[in-house]
Amino acid sequence: MNKLITIERHFVEEQKLNPHATGELTDLLYDVAFAAKLVRREVVRAGLVDILGMAGTTNVQGEEVKKLDLFANEKIINAIGQHGRFAIMGSEENEGTIAPPKNETGKYVLLFDPLDGSSNIDVNVSVGTIFSIYRLTGDNPKKADINDCLQKGLQQVAAGYVIYGSSVVMVYSSGHGVHGFTYDPTIGEFLLSHENITTPKKGKYYSINEGSFHQLHDSTINYIDYLKEEDKETGRPYSTRYIGSLVADFHRNLLTGGIFVYPATKKHPNGKLRLMYEANPLAFICEQAGGRATNGRERILDIDPAELHQRTPLYIGSEDDVLIAEEFEQGKR
Ligand code: AHG
Ligand code: MN
Ligand code: MN
Ligand code: MN
Repeated sequence: MNKLITIERHFVEEQKLNPHATGELTDLLYDVAFAAKLVRREVVRAGLVDILGMAGTTNVQGEEVKKLDLFANEKIINAIGQHGRFAIMGSEENEGTIAPPKNETGKYVLLFDPLDGSSNIDVNVSVGTIFSIYRLTGDNPKKADINDCLQKGLQQVAAGYVIYGSSVVMVYSSGHGVHGFTYDPTIGEFLLSHENITTPKKGKYYSINEGSFHQLHDSTINYIDYLKEEDKETGRPYSTRYIGSLVADFHRNLLTGGIFVYPATKKHPNGKLRLMYEANPLAFICEQAGGRATNGRERILDIDPAELHQRTPLYIGSEDDVLIAEEFEQGKR
């Protein structure tokens, strides 16, 4: 009978690994897990409450916003905000930064994608939430500003995601390996289900939106052709798996091995995915699990951010697969 370890208990155990921890990061992680429970509550009954369909607005990304995008965004801001254990936040759905409620503050920065895979909400396909946590750059939380939200991904103190799928799983790392917790609705807790996740060095799945074929650069087309060739020795052809929710594609590849690519295209010269609350947190998780994450040339975690919503090409997953994809992107194959 395996031990029932709640995510909160796991946070406390991990805190003991940092001798001078004050417990503030643990508290913030509690709040993120709590917010995930609130979002889950609506996602799993989306058809019964008025959160399907379009909100009738467009966000800073130029995307048509779905009601669940806004609902998740509001829930996370309020759930995290009420305890104020952060100094400043950034969200996909907010053009500017988000300050804590007055006279509340903390020494952490939270960046998040409240609802990833919005195009899949109304059709009952897995969606997710992605989060990324940094320490303030200065020592006065009252002076927190956009620069605290623009730190390199390698400065993250913790990151993770929640996948609202056939089961709801929260995966996070605070630098001591990657751990997954499955939500048990009968007790309302996230319970440890995937301890110390490591990703296979090589996979058999590739996730690229081939619908963009005519937008793809030749280097990417050559890579896809390579994956489709018959070659027993290198386990080709790979199978294609593309869900349209980054979190769901990433989570499958993390567990089974594989590569997710959203490359630079003729239409999106910097790709589509956002560095601060999609690529960086998943790159942190991926590297902690032994995988690799780059923009085709440079390590994602080394990219020096210039703006909150900047985009980046993303090659992420099994190390050997990402290395081969990079050789194609760099014209070496
Ligand atoms: P979001 O719903 O947070 O805006 O993110 C959607 C992203 C990502 O989840 C997914 O991998 C990608 O958009 C799919 O883009 P395409 O439809 O262009 O393939
Ligand atoms: Mn979006
Ligand atoms: Mn997203
Ligand atoms: Mn989103």
